[in-house]
Amino acid sequence: MATHSRYGGVVPELASREHLRAIVPAVRMALEESSTQLEKLSAIAVTEGPGLVGSLLVGMTYGKALAMVHKLPLIAVNHIEGHIHAVASQSAVEFPALALVVSGGHTHLFEVAEGFRYRLLGKTRDDAAGEAFDKVAKLLGFGYPGGPVIDMLAPHGNPDAVRFTLAKMKGNTLDFSFSGLKTAVLHYVRKQGNDSRPLFTESEIADVCASFQRVVVTVLIDRLFDAARRYQAKGVGIAGGVSANSRLRAELQQYGRSREMPTFLPSLGLSTDNAAMIAAAGLRKFRAGITAPDDLNADASLTL
Ligand code: KG4
Ligand code: ZN
Repeated sequence: MATHSRYGGVVPELASREHLRAIVPAVRMALEESSTQLEKLSAIAVTEGPGLVGSLLVGMTYGKALAMVHKLPLIAVNHIEGHIHAVASQSAVEFPALALVVSGGHTHLFEVAEGFRYRLLGKTRDDAAGEAFDKVAKLLGFGYPGGPVIDMLAPHGNPDAVRFTLAKMKGNTLDFSFSGLKTAVLHYVRKQGNDSRPLFTESEIADVCASFQRVVVTVLIDRLFDAARRYQAKGVGIAGGVSANSRLRAELQQYGRSREMPTFLPSLGLSTDNAAMIAAAGLRKFRAGITAPDDLNADASLTL
């Protein structure tokens, strides 16, 4: 993360180099921490996509090699599916349930049914929610990733201080759009600053963070519960990096309680990208007898 922070985002070339450097020690450490050995495993799960092709290839090649050498079945997992099953593996989810995957690359609302079946109900038409957090943090002068910084500062600000609004969605009303909001924050920041005055005081920055976060969380929760009503879901969950957001977590639980709708959210460690979520989805697929074809390859733009 420090490497990416220095460059204000993920640089593909550096990411694949870091993967190459980290993969062997990471697997060794995982085995050590769980007091097991490769020989004792039942299967190897790998991320098929989507993502940066260089990083995907490192994992795919290493995973295939391990499976071949140890004569283990290989299981293909979609990155998004991993986020969803990180949540499902931690709670008793009844299907059909809705999953809102909110990360740096996705804002996708799925209906999830038994048997690894997913139906996309809505998605962002421009920036992902995490991307909006990162871009707003950047224009306020913070590093990458910006979501955690905004989350940390927002409680010190007034969420009603700045009236940011979101445009109404035409067409599929379960879609999202965050680029207009980002532009509104940019205009607000530009309007406030001038040469003789520092752009913002600490409390004004906290107000912008709180106001921006309130709008994003409100739209995510509104769409999720609107869809739950329309599709008669038995529960709703959030997943992906933005599901670590404290306001989003609190509102999800609060709305769920008031609407008597079961809610699911990952532990903080399983919110942002991690390998355990791929193992969690892989284990469920393995138990269902779903293994990957021999010619499995990384697919940077894989959909769910
Ligand atoms: O799922 P993830 O780790 O990687 C992707 O698959 O993209 O998500 C990373 C995203 C980043 O945009 C980051 O700013 C955002 O998740 N994020 C947060 C928080 N923690 C991470 N956004 C809002 N509040 C947080 N606490
Ligand atoms: Zn992710």
